[in-house]
Amino acid sequence: MSAYTRLQTELKAAPRTWLVTGVAGFIGSNLLQTLLKLDQRVVGLDNFATGKRHNLAEVEKLVTPAQWENFTFVEGDICAPAACARACAGVDFVLHQAALGSVPRSIEEPVASHAANVTGFINMLEAARAAQVKRFVYASSSAVYGDAPELPKVEEKIGQPLSPYAATKWMNEIYAGVFARAYGMSAIGLRYFNVFGPRQDPDGAYAAVIPKWVAAVLRREPVLVNGDGETSRDFCFINNVVQANLLAATTTNPDAVNQAYNVAVGERTTLNQLYRFILDGLRRRDATLPDAQPVYQDFRAGDVRHSLADVGKAQRLLGYAPTHQLGEGLESALDWYRGNLM
Ligand SMILES: NC(=O)c1ccc[n+]([C@@H]2O[C@H](COP(=O)([O-])OP(=O)(O)OC[C@H]3O[C@@H](n4cnc5c(N)ncnc54)[C@H](O)[C@@H]3O)[C@@H](O)[C@H]2O)c1
Repeated sequence: MSAYTRLQTELKAAPRTWLVTGVAGFIGSNLLQTLLKLDQRVVGLDNFATGKRHNLAEVEKLVTPAQWENFTFVEGDICAPAACARACAGVDFVLHQAALGSVPRSIEEPVASHAANVTGFINMLEAARAAQVKRFVYASSSAVYGDAPELPKVEEKIGQPLSPYAATKWMNEIYAGVFARAYGMSAIGLRYFNVFGPRQDPDGAYAAVIPKWVAAVLRREPVLVNGDGETSRDFCFINNVVQANLLAATTTNPDAVNQAYNVAVGERTTLNQLYRFILDGLRRRDATLPDAQPVYQDFRAGDVRHSLADVGKAQRLLGYAPTHQLGEGLESALDWYRGNLM
């Protein structure tokens, strides 16, 4: 039996109270869905900066009325310490996801990224410390590897950050380490690598590549590729990310805490390959979709060329075992977008 299967059984038998920040966003709403289905009590905090009320409404439809009763929503901004304190009251575990994502957004708006991702982060750390939560798990990013050339990425070897976004996530890891050393806090950072899945927003200037391309193909619009398409990423389906969060929050392994972990699959896919997977997958579902070529444009500032994770540390210390590779995850995501894209 995997560590995650065992954990789910334990949680169902003895429910805990969780705070999910950024609960109306893509990753946050998926955490909410899984936790409620495990009969956990969940507090959610969000200011709808990029999150959507309809993500919460969708989760409500996917759980039972009794499970939905276990959810308390706090509308608030992590830049306001009082909102963070209110959300942390009585909580066992914090899963801190609220942030302004996207490398290009941070290049356009570095001060806004800093406010949400650094000031908001330390507000949440401080509120969690005051509330004496058992563990503070937070979303870091593969962006912290910056210009380090080595592949695959191992946690100990990071380079210089290439964007304000990367700097904010690196700062999160620095502050979490300081709160562990100075105040004895128990924190775990999860360096997500290109996460995808249901409810990831396909629209807006800062949309991630998979939802953006799926939407473009479904809407019969051109797919734009930044660069020559040989840029590669370790695409990670959302269920793997949810698993890593729950394992990190509850691990009793003393060597596992106050660390950062890669959360990915450990496989590299180029953008050209990804385009083919998406187009073929959607054309299998709707043969009338055109077999179009993508349109290549300039490389994007701040982007790293290749990204691939070594997930050995999370496997060893947390018992992380990804259940979905790109292909399986993409099948679920494509079905969801076909059913939900407006
Ligand atoms: N999606 C990925 O591939 C990926 C990769 C690496 C790291 N991450 C990190 O994972 C986390 C979740 O990302 P996501 O993809 O779900 O993005 P998302 O934009 O869908 O979710 C972020 C949520 O945080 C909320 N939020 C933002 N600023 C806030 C504030 N000041 N106060 C309260 N709430 C606020 C937003 O409204 C939104 O609901 C972020 O920290 C992001 O940096 C994501």
